Amino acid sequence: MPDALPDAPAGSEPLDLPVVDLSGGATLHRAHLTAIPAATVYLLAKLRQDVFTLEQHATDADLDGRELEPGTTILWIETARGEPAAHIRVLTEDDGTLRIGRLAVRKQNRRDGFGGRIMRAALDLTHQIDPAAEVHIDAQAYLEKWYLSMGYETTGPVFMEAGIEHVPMVYRHPR
Ligand SMILES: CC(C)(COP(=O)(O)OP(=O)(O)OC[C@H]1O[C@@H](n2cnc3c(N)ncnc32)[C@H](O)[C@@H]1OP(=O)(O)O)[C@@H](O)C(=O)NCCC(=O)NCCS
Repeated sequence: MPDALPDAPAGSEPLDLPVVDLSGGATLHRAHLTAIPAATVYLLAKLRQDVFTLEQHATDADLDGRELEPGTTILWIETARGEPAAHIRVLTEDDGTLRIGRLAVRKQNRRDGFGGRIMRAALDLTHQIDPAAEVHIDAQAYLEKWYLSMGYETTGPVFMEAGIEHVPMVYRHPR
């Protein structure tokens, strides 16, 4: 794997985040889709398929095209062996708000802190993009308490999305 992120494609946010070393030799990465090596893109799509389609039986298609938008950033964690083990994405909405989604950690790497680490990295990115922007998530309902502990607030009742219970939540960066 490269030891630094490649240059940003024209028109996208500058990729000013070097690879971040985590404990145990894992690394945190951030890039626009077009700057990610093809094999990594494939493995991240497979990770999402394994988690959302095969494990959680989501009834909506996972690949919705939003990674192709210039305002979308993908973050991922690779193990010391260079295998993608965690994924999350940050979207820019037309109304100026930001949206975090598709949080997934490979089954064999769960409860090891990757989920929390990558969510914090995504929130840090939203602060860099616009500290005043609201950050929205459609949280899977079983994780509502965890998100509340991070500072998210629930904004509405439970609803079904992709056949899974979700709750709408928002994070506002402290001023
Ligand atoms: C949810 C998920 C991303 C957590 O990843 P992880 O690497 O295990 O997360 P962490 O080790 O950082 O754990 C963070 C916290 O998440 C919460 N959590 C994780 N799994 C949980 C579960 N099955 N039930 C309830 N809370 C859970 C806990 O509060 C946990 O803290 P704790 O370990 O101190 O109890 C992972 O289980 C996953 O990919 N699940 C399937 C996909 C999914 O549900 N995505 C979330 C969409 S909103």
